[in-house]
Amino acid sequence: MGYHSEFQRSIEHPDDFWREQSELINWMTPPSVIWQPKSNGHGEWFPDGTLNSSDVALDANIRAGRGDQKAIIYDSPVTGQVSHLTYRELTDQVALFAGALLDRGVEKGDRVIIYMPMIPETIIAMLACARIGAVHSVVFGGFAARELAVRIDDATPRAIVTASCGIEVQKLIAYKPLVDDAIEMASHKPEYCVVFQRPQVTAELTPGRDHDWHQLMANAKPTGAVPVKATDPLYILYTSGTTGKPKGVVRDNGGHAVALRYSMNVVYGAKAGDVFWAASDVGWVVGHSYIVYGPLFSGCTSVLFEGKPVKTPDAGAFWRVCQDHKVNLLFTAPTAFRAVRKEDPEADKLKQYDTRSLRTIFLAGERLDPPTYDWLTEHTGLPVLDHWWQTETGWAICCNPIGIEALPVKAGSPTVPTPGFNVQVVNHKGQPARQGDQGQVVVKLPLPPGCMTTVWGDDTRFVKTYLQPVAGYYSSGDGGYIDEDGYVFIMGRTDDVINVSGHRLSTGQMEEVIAAHPAVAECCVVGARDELKGQVPLGLVIVKDGATITQDELEEELIDMVRDRIGAVAYFRQALIVDRLPKTRSGKILRRVIRQIADGESYSVPSTIDDPAILEEISQHLKH
Ligand code: COA
Ligand code: AMP
Repeated sequence: MGYHSEFQRSIEHPDDFWREQSELINWMTPPSVIWQPKSNGHGEWFPDGTLNSSDVALDANIRAGRGDQKAIIYDSPVTGQVSHLTYRELTDQVALFAGALLDRGVEKGDRVIIYMPMIPETIIAMLACARIGAVHSVVFGGFAARELAVRIDDATPRAIVTASCGIEVQKLIAYKPLVDDAIEMASHKPEYCVVFQRPQVTAELTPGRDHDWHQLMANAKPTGAVPVKATDPLYILYTSGTTGKPKGVVRDNGGHAVALRYSMNVVYGAKAGDVFWAASDVGWVVGHSYIVYGPLFSGCTSVLFEGKPVKTPDAGAFWRVCQDHKVNLLFTAPTAFRAVRKEDPEADKLKQYDTRSLRTIFLAGERLDPPTYDWLTEHTGLPVLDHWWQTETGWAICCNPIGIEALPVKAGSPTVPTPGFNVQVVNHKGQPARQGDQGQVVVKLPLPPGCMTTVWGDDTRFVKTYLQPVAGYYSSGDGGYIDEDGYVFIMGRTDDVINVSGHRLSTGQMEEVIAAHPAVAECCVVGARDELKGQVPLGLVIVKDGATITQDELEEELIDMVRDRIGAVAYFRQALIVDRLPKTRSGKILRRVIRQIADGESYSVPSTIDDPAILEEISQHLKH
């Protein structure tokens, strides 16, 4: 069957389609109901099925005879370590840590925050939570204590699992003081922390509250996977929205397992035994779906890389890993290859390694710019496939469905809607846009399995943000168009979310931090184009009357504040004092025009602007 008939079937007969796909995973009670509609066009997948995601990822592979196959390869240039865990070894470790959590009172439905670097224990902790029906919430290590505190208050975890440090190239980031600060700031106090001590930094443990990972493991008894409902939450993953408060995207167990298993086949053309490498971070959705769950659900070997595309030690790092571990499928963000290309424009490093095992390179997380696409295709000679997705969906909304049929690539397009996603474009009135016209990219409800089920603790926000803007559709927050061949083009966010080095950040959140500076009267942050990082935040600030602070002093203080409150990953490096900000007559700041000016794009003066002369002033400021 080709792509088009598979796609049509997924849309016209979703029950039959997803029933078949559900048969590929190991249920404890197979579902008899496939889709149960609720309100607002939303609903539940496989509501009466039970399973356990750790069983599907681990035990099922042992039962299928893959116990001695490598499940995870850990490659860490920052510590000089390379090791692996077979499916059997990983299962044993997960069962033990699950036993340790149970011993210390973690129950089904409890939340556990995981604030860890890229080490196997992070995956062990995630799967251990899944094994006992606890809900994990992994927080990316580049976020500051305050961001962690916000997540602690929202998820109200019983426990936090952390490590003594993360390693950023050569810089050691001590995690434990950040966790201590976050707990201090948060209103909710977790009962305890488990700390994995790494040799590079020894964390001080708070007596009575903190436990040493190794000691807990030494005394733990292994535990089996408990049945959970398909609709029970597997994890919460926070993502940036338009406000300072991140959204806790909730993923279920059943739909997630079915969708990821399907995606491994259709989107990535992966089969059991393949070596799959998602060069991302477990703290992001790409890491959840394609370092941890997807490859393991499909019996692949997953590479966990604790390094960077450059500087660990050089721009050959990716090719070296592909050679050493015979990687078949590589997935990363375009920004990673832009960094490689900048240091090794002729791809000389690539020639030093044997990368013949590689079949396909996949890119996502931000727009795949044609120069990066061309460079990669030219130098590797491999298919380079863009695909579009979001934390909310957990897997690709648009892809080149190579597992069914490889479609011709059009540079700049993530190709076509993935089966299950009825992608459409609507105009500002919510009506279907004409073919080729830009508008908001939406997905007709119901969404396929695997997508977010709600915002943790705030279903109203879920409905308001995603389901209400265009009735009957999921609003993606991205703008784009569909061409005459049905190819989708994603042109960027229509809200205040920006994408810095493939990391999703909220300008609204940065504005909240900047506005708290005593000299700041008003501010706005936009994402300005950057050759390497895609976008970088740019702050424009009006100072209060009588404030004597200089441009340089204010910029330095604001940079420190954003770093301290959001984290280094926000990459806030530029703040400019201006006299006025362009606004509509109703007082809304015209961020889009500011961004266009910063990017040197032509812009039309909005008819709603209160004083068009401000645009010229801003333009002059930015030129200096
Ligand atoms: N823990 C602590 N700090 C972190 C961190 C982590 N996990 N990840 C990033 N940071 C810090 C960095 O050390 C840096 O700090 P600095 O300002 O003190 O130098 C800052 O956050 C910005 O980091 P980053 O945006 O990663 O920039 P970089 O220059 O260090 O690296 C790239 C640039 C392109 C190499 C890197 O961003 C990359 O590999 N990106 C891939 C993106 C990705 O995987 N996205 C996921 C979606 S697929
Ligand atoms: P995240 O939730 O961090 O995965 O970020 C999702 C956002 O990244 C999307 O809403 C898009 O704006 C952007 N994005 C992800 N993949 C692509 C892609 N292939 N092309 C264009 N934009 C993308």
